[in-house]
Amino acid sequence: MSEEFALDWLDLREPFDAMARSTELADRLLASLPARPRFLDLGAGTGSLLRFLAPRLGRAQVWTLVDADRELLEAAFDTIADRCETIGYKVTFPNRRTLLVHAPGGAWRIETLVADLAEAPRGLPLHNADAVVSSALCDLVSRPWLERLAAALRVPFYAALCVTGRDRFTPPHPADRLVADGFRRDQGRDKGFGGVALGDRAPEAIAAAFGARGFTVTSAPSDWEVRSRGAMPLPGLHEAASRFLSELVMGHAEAAQRQDRRGDPRLGDWLEDRLDQVADRRLAARIGHRDVLALPGKS
Ligand SMILES: C[S@@+](CC[C@H](N)C(=O)[O-])C[C@H]1O[C@@H](n2cnc3c(N)ncnc32)[C@H](O)[C@@H]1O
Repeated sequence: MSEEFALDWLDLREPFDAMARSTELADRLLASLPARPRFLDLGAGTGSLLRFLAPRLGRAQVWTLVDADRELLEAAFDTIADRCETIGYKVTFPNRRTLLVHAPGGAWRIETLVADLAEAPRGLPLHNADAVVSSALCDLVSRPWLERLAAALRVPFYAALCVTGRDRFTPPHPADRLVADGFRRDQGRDKGFGGVALGDRAPEAIAAAFGARGFTVTSAPSDWEVRSRGAMPLPGLHEAASRFLSELVMGHAEAAQRQDRRGDPRLGDWLEDRLDQVADRRLAARIGHRDVLALPGKS
């Protein structure tokens, strides 16, 4: 695995991911599933997608969280258990690999699988899955990887939060285009999935790969909208929004600098100006994403 994700970053982005996700598309996925659906979550990290989908489904369900990063999967169990206990759901551990959440509508059985997905779907327990799901994964993968997955699946595939490349920082800055171009080039770096990463071509590539195999593919916008002043949908989000904006700005600048062989000073200026705007609570960002759903069969 060549791309690592910090626990703190996944933690920080979770509420912004949750606000961005298309509820309409999620509900369409959930409506297509059997009584006690079994989810296979690829690149699950700390289980952010489970925390969004499981209560929405509201009935008994089974999850296998797959990730190459053992530490993230361990944190997934802790985080799911903590959050569930906070809202009064009993949690038990029948064995070291299994977590049971005794939710009111039916138990959630959760297991983890440490696995490098580079060769997926080889080695994945697809026969035990009623849906293969992912969140913030498909822009990392390559087209051949996606083609292999599409060829192997007979169940719904849900790819939440695929980047679209339509990012806008406000107020505008003279170096925005320069940063955006570098950031976009950097997203194509091989991320360990056997070739050029799809980056902002992921939504189109999923539609093509699954559409060609008789799936019905729909998608919906799921942009991050981040600002650190004004009314917020959740309490205590202003401080998180400022940290999130700083991370976004630093991530964009770092990626653009990685792609810049000439050491263009405008990139450093952009970073400095943008961080000042974060500190003054003057910066807002809209980072383009799409959620994509592929259901077997033509509609
Ligand atoms: C952007 S994070 C998304 C995590 C989680 N789905 C979420 O929405 O918070 C991408 C995840 O993919 C995992 N990942 C990246 N490359 C991988 C690989 N080759 N095999 C398995 N997991 C991988 C990372 O460890 C990370 O947890």
